[in-house]
Amino acid sequence: MQNNSRKKVRRKNPMLFCFLAALLIVLIIIFAFLAANSRQSTGELQAAYDKDAAFQPSPSPTVRLVSVTPDPYLVTHVPQPSPTPSFLSVGSEGEMVRQLQQRLKELDYYTGEVDGQYGSGTREAVRFFQYQHGLENDGVAGQQTLAVLYSNQAKPCPYTPMPQPEPEVTETIVVQTPAPVLATPSVPLMGYGASGESVVQLQQRLQQLGYYTGSVDGQYGNGTAEAVKIFQSQNGLSADGIAGEKTIHILFSANAKYITITPTPSPVYLTGENILLLVNRQNKLPEDFVPGDLVKVKDICGDNVLYASQNIQGVRVAVVALNEMIAAAKADGIGPWKIREGYRTIADQQEIFDNSVYTFRKDGQTKSQAISSTRQTVADPGCSEHHTGLAFDLNANNPDLPFADTAQYAWLQKHCWEHGFIMRYTDEKEHITGFLGEEWHVRYVGTEHSLKMRDMGLCLEEYIIWLDNQ
Ligand code: DAL
Ligand code: ZN
Repeated sequence: MQNNSRKKVRRKNPMLFCFLAALLIVLIIIFAFLAANSRQSTGELQAAYDKDAAFQPSPSPTVRLVSVTPDPYLVTHVPQPSPTPSFLSVGSEGEMVRQLQQRLKELDYYTGEVDGQYGSGTREAVRFFQYQHGLENDGVAGQQTLAVLYSNQAKPCPYTPMPQPEPEVTETIVVQTPAPVLATPSVPLMGYGASGESVVQLQQRLQQLGYYTGSVDGQYGNGTAEAVKIFQSQNGLSADGIAGEKTIHILFSANAKYITITPTPSPVYLTGENILLLVNRQNKLPEDFVPGDLVKVKDICGDNVLYASQNIQGVRVAVVALNEMIAAAKADGIGPWKIREGYRTIADQQEIFDNSVYTFRKDGQTKSQAISSTRQTVADPGCSEHHTGLAFDLNANNPDLPFADTAQYAWLQKHCWEHGFIMRYTDEKEHITGFLGEEWHVRYVGTEHSLKMRDMGLCLEEYIIWLDNQ
């Protein structure tokens, strides 16, 4: 019945039938065209993704598109990766600058705000980083600088970073005699090894103010670095010996102070009660402390011992006792003996301290962790009893055996007291001395005290309290 009626319609309305057939053909053509187009766009998109996936990441931590799942939305809205600038410099801003500042901060080159604005503070931090890594120190973070900065080659800042952003010179710099003002030359950051006209200008100005007495030869050697350090320390700057922007700014201004010559400090003779001079974290020596009667250990001990350096010094009375002690040990058949350390200046101690901090930082510790780790075995500058010239580090010249396991140590532990020496840092007294045990470190106090300390089992801190109470 229904079939019959359809035939009827076809027969009755041939025009309508033709119209519907034509419409169908048009729709098929449109659909085929769209499908072809869509395949082409997807192919292009895939190629774009493939290209992106093959992209070698630049040192910039910018997140890149790596997904290869075509999304119908992306067919018409292919995201364009934001252009990565090939360098960052003063005036740059945004996320990449923020990341740069963060990284410089982690490494202690940057102490300013992480605000994504590349200002003079960021530029100085970049310059200092570049300087430390042998890169051209232009303060511009280009591809090479960024590559080193984000790699594991990046070394932490070994110096105290300058505060940033650069503060203006303030009245806190006391001007004694105004120095003649010179136009501040535009010089690059300079340090040991630099040369040329900028160094000539630097040396001339240092000479004018009395800091530099060497020849003006345009070579930034030890003499120039020392002069820069003295200038910095006398002008309220961090004394790193590097002529950075701030140092140059003050050096060539009227606020630059002439050198102040401090008289050579008078030596302190460690005789009588002074022989018990207590030096530790709580008892820091003055900056200018120098013990009297320092002698070269070699001049007294001669060939009796070996030396880590021919120039090791100590206070005469202690070196004489050391020589006698080692002679006694050798008479007992115990040797050889090597002197590793004796008298140290405060600057020596600073270097040892800084090197230790640097080593811990290289091992991945933060600055404060590295300082704490260092303080377990190295005294802060001014707090080491090596400054007294009464302390020595000994060893058995046997690299294969810890000193604690040697016959020399066994002998020393038993007999050092009879020669006026004490074992200064033991594991048992660590909570009092503040240092881990050091079986190689002996301190001269004289037999009057050393024998009592042995018999009472007191360390120096305890013994001094005991004496005060007598
Ligand atoms: N190693 C000892 C504690 C010092 O640095 O003086
Ligand atoms: Zn020592």
